[in-house]
Amino acid sequence: MKPSTVRQLAGELKHFLRAQDEDELISTAAPTQTAAVVVSQTEKAVTRQSLPPMSENSTLQVDFPRADKLAPRHAVPAQETGSTLLTTSQKQAALQTLADTIKQCTRCPLGATRLHAVPGEGNVDADVMFIGEGPGYDEDRQGRPFVGRAGQLLDKMIIAMGLTREQVFIANIAKCHPMTDPQHPEKHGNDRAPNAGEIACCRKYLEQQIAIICPKYIVALGGVSAKALISDAKSLGALRGQFYNLRLDSVALPRPVQILATFHPAALLRNPNWKKDAWKDLQMVMARLGLKGATK
Ligand code: URA
Repeated sequence: MKPSTVRQLAGELKHFLRAQDEDELISTAAPTQTAAVVVSQTEKAVTRQSLPPMSENSTLQVDFPRADKLAPRHAVPAQETGSTLLTTSQKQAALQTLADTIKQCTRCPLGATRLHAVPGEGNVDADVMFIGEGPGYDEDRQGRPFVGRAGQLLDKMIIAMGLTREQVFIANIAKCHPMTDPQHPEKHGNDRAPNAGEIACCRKYLEQQIAIICPKYIVALGGVSAKALISDAKSLGALRGQFYNLRLDSVALPRPVQILATFHPAALLRNPNWKKDAWKDLQMVMARLGLKGATK
């Protein structure tokens, strides 16, 4: 590696590691439009951590980047920024800093109702990264992604591919548990998809994670993940079945990352007849990586 490249990398990493403050991490995002997000009555009712008191009729104005208005994705090609693949220990340090920041994050109302933020976990040098929509009940309690029923199925899918959970990286679009009824966080079946504002708030974190790990392939689990990462305008059905080159809004990738969309494991639990198609999707990734699948 040329000394100038090493110097540039060292500079970038120093800057990144210095960005302890979540706003500093967020502020390097691409220029965004400001959206006023009206927080629903249920979202603003609960304060499991300290939030400023709000009157029943107040709306919370949050400066969110408008993820849905950022098409086309416009990351600068890596070769133009000198962005370079990190070493394993550099990745571990950078991801740890990011996870610490995520755990402190209160940029959206989910920060007040979560028990634990769920930054993600796995092999920092993974070839494959799985990205779901957001933590559920079990994940909120454990601070780890995909540890409930859907997670058990995801584990089986990973093993069927000939991989282990320890070999891949698992993360979510939203890092905190979106609840339909935040006043009763102890309730089961209280999950919902993250909304556009919550997705926009977490986008920078996810993009940093992807750029640090720089997997060869991302498997987007379900429509929320596929739309956020590939195209807001299309349905999961329209996005499945082909690879896309990932374009990030805020960071350059050191090398191309391809993304494939498939069904969310929770959807497969509800509709087991979709498993056949999900398996076809996973086989596309396996073929690219030369994976033969689990040996029985
Ligand atoms: N569903 C998700 O999308 N992510 C999790 O971590 C768990 C369930």
